[in-house]
Amino acid sequence: MDKIFQDRHSVRSFQDKEISKKDLTEILEAANSAPSAGNLKAREIIIVKDQKIRDELAEAALGQDFVAEAPLVLVFFAVPEHSERKYGQRGRNLYTLQDATIAASFAWLQAVILGLAACWVGAFDDDEVKKIFKTKDDWQPVAIMPIGYEK
Ligand SMILES: Cc1cc2nc3c(=O)[nH]c(=O)nc-3n(C[C@H](O)[C@H](O)[C@H](O)COP(=O)(O)O)c2cc1C
Repeated sequence: MDKIFQDRHSVRSFQDKEISKKDLTEILEAANSAPSAGNLKAREIIIVKDQKIRDELAEAALGQDFVAEAPLVLVFFAVPEHSERKYGQRGRNLYTLQDATIAASFAWLQAVILGLAACWVGAFDDDEVKKIFKTKDDWQPVAIMPIGYEK
């Protein structure tokens, strides 16, 4: 097993230190390189740096305050319509979630490669998260991922 898998662990406390544009780009490139059913990439990633939105996300994540502490938060959504067009119910119910999940996994590993740390936050109120970003109703938030330098 590569060291990257030993290094990756959930971090819930972050330094007050910005992430460079270059690192953010590499994390997004890694996420976008993840495979998807039919290469349809039935997912969207919302990049959050704004403190007010980070606060709202922490609240939507049932008060997990470390979400607001991280300088960068990525929110991964499954976007069923992209996959449903080709794969019907299986695309809508399964592939879209898998597309978003694997992209989030790749993002986390790339963050670790860059010396950053993250946590996968799955405990949140779906409707509250959707309301923050005014997404279409069928977008499914899959993971909130705070990323930063470990404290
Ligand atoms: C689907 C999923 C949901 C999770 N949700 C949360 C969460 O809401 N809050 C949290 O602090 N950690 C959450 N975690 C992180 C797990 O608690 C963590 O990965 C697990 O305890 C193993 O620890 P490690 O990541 O350090 O190996 C989640 C992980 C996964 C994969």
